[in-house]
Order: sequence, then structure tokens, then C-alpha cells
Amino acid sequence: MAENLLVLGLQWGDEGKGQVIDVLADRYDVIVRFQGGANAGHTVRVGREKFTLHQIPTGILRTGKLCIIGNGAVVDPEGLLEEIDTLEKRGLQVHGRLLVSDRAHVVMPYHKILDGLQDASRAVGKKIETTGRGIGPCYADKAARRGLRLVEMMQPQTLQARLKELATAKNRELTALYGADPLDVEALCAAYSGYAERLRPFVRDTLPVIGAALANGKSILLEGAQAAMLDIEFGTYPYVTSSNVTAGGAAVGTGIPPSRIDRVLGVMKAYCSRVGGGPFPTEQDNEIGQLMRDRGEEYGSTTGRPRRCGWLDCVALRHAVAVNGPDSVALTGLPVLSALPKLKICVAYRLAGQVVKHVPADPDALAQAEPEYEELDGWQTDISGAKALEEMPRAARDYVAAVEAAVGTTVDMVTVGRGRGQIARRTGNG
Ligand code: IMO
Ligand code: MG
Repeated sequence: MAENLLVLGLQWGDEGKGQVIDVLADRYDVIVRFQGGANAGHTVRVGREKFTLHQIPTGILRTGKLCIIGNGAVVDPEGLLEEIDTLEKRGLQVHGRLLVSDRAHVVMPYHKILDGLQDASRAVGKKIETTGRGIGPCYADKAARRGLRLVEMMQPQTLQARLKELATAKNRELTALYGADPLDVEALCAAYSGYAERLRPFVRDTLPVIGAALANGKSILLEGAQAAMLDIEFGTYPYVTSSNVTAGGAAVGTGIPPSRIDRVLGVMKAYCSRVGGGPFPTEQDNEIGQLMRDRGEEYGSTTGRPRRCGWLDCVALRHAVAVNGPDSVALTGLPVLSALPKLKICVAYRLAGQVVKHVPADPDALAQAEPEYEELDGWQTDISGAKALEEMPRAARDYVAAVEAAVGTTVDMVTVGRGRGQIARRTGNG
């Protein structure tokens, strides 16, 4: 029977999920996003071309694959139409290959404005530094049962009536609470009616499509966005995104029963990065972090912001592994470390004089945590030509083995460059 695979990030996002998913997508029939929205930035390099996907599943880069934006995602119609146009201009067929769940919630301009205003109103040092894509306010409206879903947006009269009611209420919030300008309700209605017509070919109830795929032995790849430490439940709350990004969320966000998700692949980078606010115990706000940022091109693919970088945090990774249960892991970013003579991995935290090996729920406690490091030798040679893990220098293999031991998982794939084919597998002949 066809195997359904879930691929998700195990750190703070930007683990290189795009490259890993792109390689695997070729072997699957359907690729589905289950949460998040335009906050994601999944980058794939194909030859000299670079594609960054925000809302559309990465599988769109593989000819003939069906891509679905699931019910758990939030859809920004304007951004999605732009993404469709850009891909089609670059010669990729999107019409006929992309479906969007009519149960997905719609991101509105007021969500984006409120996203910015709410973060601006947080105290210095307490800011989430969101991507500004309206994600939090849109999921908040969903949970408060006042969101607008695509199914309503597709019905002209319902759209007009609901938008008038919603935008009028939001205008009160914008003006009274934040002293901001109100939105032009008529213009908003007109714009969203236009988006609805253009999105009509893509929007439908995706449950029967997924059900048929499952029944007919088609294989499904579930594409995670963000990552465990940004999860609304298990991440460093409140410095998180607003969706369920961990393995459990994949079933909720698609309608694929948990029993039909056969395998989970975690993606982790050989060091850590975090973009935005929140605790980051192994952060290197120094020349080591700068070297990681330069060699790893650690600048946000959605916002362009420089990412904070630091040593690998195996305590956080164990936490991510505990809540996601990956069968194996793809390790990315290893070549970034090739320049360093000595490497560190964090294996425990020291918190108020105690050694702890778990992630505390309190973000202030996590911010106080002192990492306990294990030091390893660097390899300081180019590993970009390796086709198998076993071909790599001893020190690189030792690093991978140390990480496996500290995290309690198996690495079966290592990216050795950013190009499409640059993945070394574990052959077992070492
Ligand atoms: P991919 O899928 C890295 C971060 C933001 C912010 C926090 C909340 O490319 O790995 P949000 O806009 O979601 O309300 O922001 O989450 N964040 C990401 N960081 N990669 C991402 O996605 C992210 N999506 C959100 O920087 O700290
Ligand atoms: Mg990203």
C-alpha cells in the first residue's frame, strides 16, 4: 500500500524543509499543507533558479503532482493569487494542480494591520516580532468563531453581508483601541469579491479528494510549515506562531486520520536559528553566530530579517522529537559548520543551579537557562561532494553520531548543499 509521509520542522523554522520536501515530493502523488499561511517561506533551488513558496505546497515544483492547501491553513487570497501568477509566469502549471479547502479561513487586511499594531503595543523585550502576515489575528478569529472561511467567501451575498459586519466591528477596534485609520468597507468588499472569482477554480471541499486518494492507494506527503518550537501548544509560548504545527496538527489540518499517517520525517539544521523574539538559550550573538548567518544565508525568506543563530540545542530537539515522534531525521546545514575548528552541542540546561534536560514551560525560565555543552572537533573540509554519509570525514560523522545520541533519533539524510540533488543518504556501509 502507498505510504503517507509527514515532513515537519523540529526547531524554530527555516530548517530547510523546502529542499527536503522537494526531493521527496517526486515520489508522492499528492502534497498537502495543513497549517500556517504566508508566514512560511520554503525555498528550493532548481539549477540557477530559486523558488520561494509561501502558501502553495512545495510539490507544485514537481510536474503533475496534485497540491492541496488544507482546512487547517489560513489563506491570504491576494498573496495566493500573486503566488499563482508568479509561478505560472515562470512556466509552472498551477491551474488544475492546486486545490484549496473551502474550510480554510481567510486572512483579511485588518488581520495584517492588527498583527502589526498588537506586536507594536507589546513592551520592548516582549515582542513576538511576527512576520506581519496576519496569522495570529486570523487564527484568533477562527477560535472565537467569527472568522470567514473560503466557503463563505465563494458565495457573493454571504461575503458582502459577513464582510460588512466583520469589517465594521474591526474598524471600531482599529480606531477606538489603536487610534488607527478605519478600512474602507466598500473597497474591501469589492476587492474580496474579485479575489473570490479568481480563486473559484481552486476552492472546493477537499475532504472527498483526500478520501479518494486514500481509498485509491495514492501516496500523500504532508508538508509542515514553521516548527515544533513555534507550535502554539509546545513551543516557547507566547513567542510562537498561532497554529498546531506538530504531528497531531497534520491530521486536524487535513482530515487525514492519524492512523493513515504512516511515517514522520523530522527536519533539523545542524545549528539553530530563530527569527523574531523569544528565548534562545544557545544563541551566539557574536562572530560565531555571524559566521553561521553568512555561510548559511540566514536571512528571512519571507521578511528578509537577519536570523539569530547559535549552537545546536539538543534539549529543544528532544522536546520536538517527543511531541512529533519522527521515525527518522533529515539533517541540513552541515556544510555551514565546515569552517569551524571546534563545534558545540547543548546537551542540558543549567537552571537555578540545577541541571535540567527538558524544556521548561515558562519562557522566562528558558531565557535564563545556561546551556551545558559537549565540544566536538570540526572537519574543516568541503563536504559538498559527498553522496553518502559514510563518505564524509570522520569528524563530520562523529558530529552526526553525537547529535543522534543526544537527541535520540536517527539521521538518514544529510543535505550537503542547497541544490536539488545535494543530499547524501546513509547507506549503512560505513
Ligand atoms: P517556515 O515554514 C521561521 C516566526 C516569526 C515569529 C513567530 C510568530 O519558513 O519555517 P507569525 O507571523 O507566524 O505570527 O510569527 O514565528 N515564524 C517563522 N520563523 N520560519 C517560519 O516558517 C516562520 N513562520 C513564523 O518570525 O517569531
Ligand atoms: Mg522560513
